[in-house]
Amino acid sequence: MEPGAELQRTFKVLADSTRLRLLSALSEGEFAVQELTKALQLPQPKVSRHLGIMKNAGVVTDRRDGSFIRYKLVDKPPNHWAASWKTAKLALAEDPQVAADRTGLSQVLKDRATPSRSFFDSVGGDWDQLRKVLKDDLLRAKAIEQLVPRELTIADIGTGTGVLAIQLLSLNAKVIAVDRSISMLEAARDSLPTNALKRIDLRQGDASQLPIEDNSVDAAFAHMVLHYLPRPLDAVREMARITKPGGKVIIVDFISHSEEWMREELHMLWLGFDPEELKQMLNTAGLRDVNCTIQTETPDTPELPRTLIVSGIRNSTNQV
Ligand SMILES: C[S@@+](CC[C@H](N)C(=O)[O-])C[C@H]1O[C@@H](n2cnc3c(N)ncnc32)[C@H](O)[C@@H]1O
Repeated sequence: MEPGAELQRTFKVLADSTRLRLLSALSEGEFAVQELTKALQLPQPKVSRHLGIMKNAGVVTDRRDGSFIRYKLVDKPPNHWAASWKTAKLALAEDPQVAADRTGLSQVLKDRATPSRSFFDSVGGDWDQLRKVLKDDLLRAKAIEQLVPRELTIADIGTGTGVLAIQLLSLNAKVIAVDRSISMLEAARDSLPTNALKRIDLRQGDASQLPIEDNSVDAAFAHMVLHYLPRPLDAVREMARITKPGGKVIIVDFISHSEEWMREELHMLWLGFDPEELKQMLNTAGLRDVNCTIQTETPDTPELPRTLIVSGIRNSTNQV
């Protein structure tokens, strides 16, 4: 190659006022020929010709986007380009024509957004019907999965009919659902959809002696179960045992109340728990960062007591 050939090509690109205007425009982003024509008020053949020259010189690149060809500055320009373009750009900073072009470009950008804005303004609630053409329900579910680690294993202790278990599946989890009552497990098997049952492992067992291995689940839930247990601490200890270090134990229950009818009609052993007492139980079971949130929404039915969620993290040491 002739000495200084690349340098000469760089200066040749920069030695034309239309090309300088186009380069300044493209330094603002990617534009189609039609957009550049409109913003810079130049004839289309002239814009296309100069873009072609700059493409051949390796400073501009294009791509097809449907019926549009969009242009932008290349990511890796030839030698000498960066320094030379920097100097040229500085010199153009105060140029009135380049300033006018910039105004034209902002109008073009505004115009870009106009069709979709008017479309959505007119469509409103009909979008739910229209979007069916995109068939993106599965895609949305997969995007949500990105938030949670792959394949969590979660224990649902005292699962009953499996209402929590089925909700946990939306976290891309496998669920081990334990209940002492065979008829509750049968009810769960009857009510859960077949595809959910493929990911919910129903096991019969007692909360005080869980049929689950040590350190094997990412989280263990007991939703409205502790108030049925003769020794709730035993169950919390078991939940800590089966949870992997760093995993979570989550208890949902009532706050201490005096609704005796619950004892009589629903056969609860405990009329709720004092938040401090429950937190202490989790600490005793060897969980750390024990946290309690008292649910602030009061139930619609006044005779229902308030609820709390207490959680703690399994220590990395194996001592429980
Ligand atoms: C109020 S239900 C809650 C069911 C479910 N967690 C929910 O929120 O819908 C209590 C469940 O705990 C179960 N249960 C009671 N004592 C148990 C124990 N010692 N071990 C395992 N499950 C028990 C019952 O059989 C029942 O299914």
